[in-house]
Amino acid sequence: MEIREKLLLLKQQIEQRLSSLAPNHSPDLLRDSMMYSLQAGGKRLRPAMHILAAELVGGQADQCIDMACAIEMIHTYSLIHDDLPALDNDVLRRGRATNHVVYGEAQAILAGDGLLNYAYEVMLSNALRYPTKAVRYLKAMQMISQAAGVTGMIAGQVMDVFLEGKEVDLKQLQYIHMHKTSDMITGALTSGAVLFTEDEKQLAAVECYGRNVGLVFQIVDDILDITAGDELGKSRGKDVAEGKATYPSLFGIQKSRQIAQEKNEQAKAALEIFGSKADLLRQLADMMLERSM
Ligand code: IPE
Ligand code: IPE
Ligand code: MG
Ligand code: MG
Ligand code: MG
Repeated sequence: MEIREKLLLLKQQIEQRLSSLAPNHSPDLLRDSMMYSLQAGGKRLRPAMHILAAELVGGQADQCIDMACAIEMIHTYSLIHDDLPALDNDVLRRGRATNHVVYGEAQAILAGDGLLNYAYEVMLSNALRYPTKAVRYLKAMQMISQAAGVTGMIAGQVMDVFLEGKEVDLKQLQYIHMHKTSDMITGALTSGAVLFTEDEKQLAAVECYGRNVGLVFQIVDDILDITAGDELGKSRGKDVAEGKATYPSLFGIQKSRQIAQEKNEQAKAALEIFGSKADLLRQLADMMLERSM
């Protein structure tokens, strides 16, 4: 099977499970505002990567689909908050008006809080269904909470906002990209693998792949903010307008593409120990480099 076909299948599975996980006992306003952003589409890359990494080491999707959905909830919360007027002040996301435009700022903040907290509820409830594997699930949740947390995505977001409009060097730019984006991508992958293997070499290989793919992903995101068409589904030209530190702002578009290409090669090289079993992840890396949305 080719990666495009596999991603379509995974997207369907993930979206079906996300719908059945809707928090139906919450106030309508809270559930609706959470589901508005969660069901707005989106590429579902992080949950797909979680399942692909699990399958790479012999795991089963049904045992990690809830954790995959939780990862997508955390990602979606991060987008709702990223778009707020106090952060990137964006009005378009996933082809729709952003959460705060529809529900107002207060509800958008709370919808994000709801998704973040609910993600942990879903992960913990799932872990309790597999008591003999509790330690594995705890390890996976630790990886996700680190990736999303105060040395991970939030740390990256803090520096992204703090350094707006300032002169930024490569070290600072790498810090921002590593943490605001690469950490969650890496965490999605390694947490999927750690549920089903303890092999340190395999885990290190998956981590190295994630690091590099995660950086490629954000460099390409920076480039698309300048070059993309309408299919992007979010506003363009915002990085320059907001004075964001990006690869194109430091290196120009051509050199940024070249750096992304190099990191893409490193990502694929990291998978060598898996042989042809990792072909889907290799194809996925190429897709991340060539994507237009
Ligand atoms: C957007 O992520 C935020 C970044 C880290 C650049 P995606 O491009 O994966 O967004 P969706 O989930 O497909 O909407
Ligand atoms: C956001 O990076 C990363 C997150 C943690 C949400 P960007 O601010 O570049 O993402 P977009 O371009 O708004 O999707
Ligand atoms: Mg941002
Ligand atoms: Mg943004
Ligand atoms: Mg961006």
